[in-house]
Amino acid sequence: MKKVKKAIIPAAGLGTRFLPATKAMPKEMLPIVDRPTIEYIVEEAIASGIEDIIIVTGKGKRAIEDHFDRNFELEDNLMNKGKFEILDKINQSSKVEIHYIRQKEPKGLGHAVWCARNFIGDEPFAVLLGDDIVRAEEPCTKQLMEQYNATGSSVIGVQTVPDDETHRYGIIDPISSEGRSYEVSNFVEKPAPGKAPSNLAIMGRYILTPEIFDFLETQETGAGGEIQLTDAIQKLNETQKVYAYDFEGVRYDVGEKLGFITTTIEFALQNEEIREQLLVYLEDKVRKSAII
Ligand code: G1P
Repeated sequence: MKKVKKAIIPAAGLGTRFLPATKAMPKEMLPIVDRPTIEYIVEEAIASGIEDIIIVTGKGKRAIEDHFDRNFELEDNLMNKGKFEILDKINQSSKVEIHYIRQKEPKGLGHAVWCARNFIGDEPFAVLLGDDIVRAEEPCTKQLMEQYNATGSSVIGVQTVPDDETHRYGIIDPISSEGRSYEVSNFVEKPAPGKAPSNLAIMGRYILTPEIFDFLETQETGAGGEIQLTDAIQKLNETQKVYAYDFEGVRYDVGEKLGFITTTIEFALQNEEIREQLLVYLEDKVRKSAII
């Protein structure tokens, strides 16, 4: 059985939920405290043992490539000033090979993944979506890779969401479970409110066998008129087993405004440098709003 060594990070989305901030800046570069969201995703891949990453970019996404490139002038400057800690921070991702390919038209997530097919070849691979940051003792992608190693089958990361949120996600229809692992009869992309077969939602982490490309190849459109990865996964599930795995860890939704703000506050509260001052500020805010 081949090992999972490569990962795709789709980053071609238009970022419409964050306009006008994302008019000239990729949404993946919006910072949570002091790091762009995509850096948290790349770090998860590295911590999971991924050796090669391909980021699927699009128009106006150059800043992502610059971010993961060396910047000798800046490094020199920090070195001369003795700022070694920051120097180390800016070079974290040089531990992995990062490649880029452009999705020329915004045709959906399934199409973005399909754009990386030649890079992946005939190997199983991981997909990590940038709208979900997962904090876990064992990195989320690593948990899924271990499931793949045990079964040789594709495995999709899921977590439970409330009833009123199922329409925002890909949802699974489970047949049976063993521990955290589920056999699945159906993967449904964004079911209409009240029509979801369960509350187990796809959370932007996937291990897929390369046969998925046979189904993405057909370029059929689904929900929202886009080529959906979930639809191809369902077709794959009809020809070979695809498991869902309820991974351990806290998932932060940074793909929408409120989630982005609450994640920023959470991560800032975990940051030694600013935690105390932020707490004082928040307590003061709460006190004053209670008076109002
Ligand atoms: C995508 C997937 C969906 C998944 C979600 C997780 O949707 O298509 O199945 O549940 O990511 O964040 P998007 O949020 O890009 O519309």
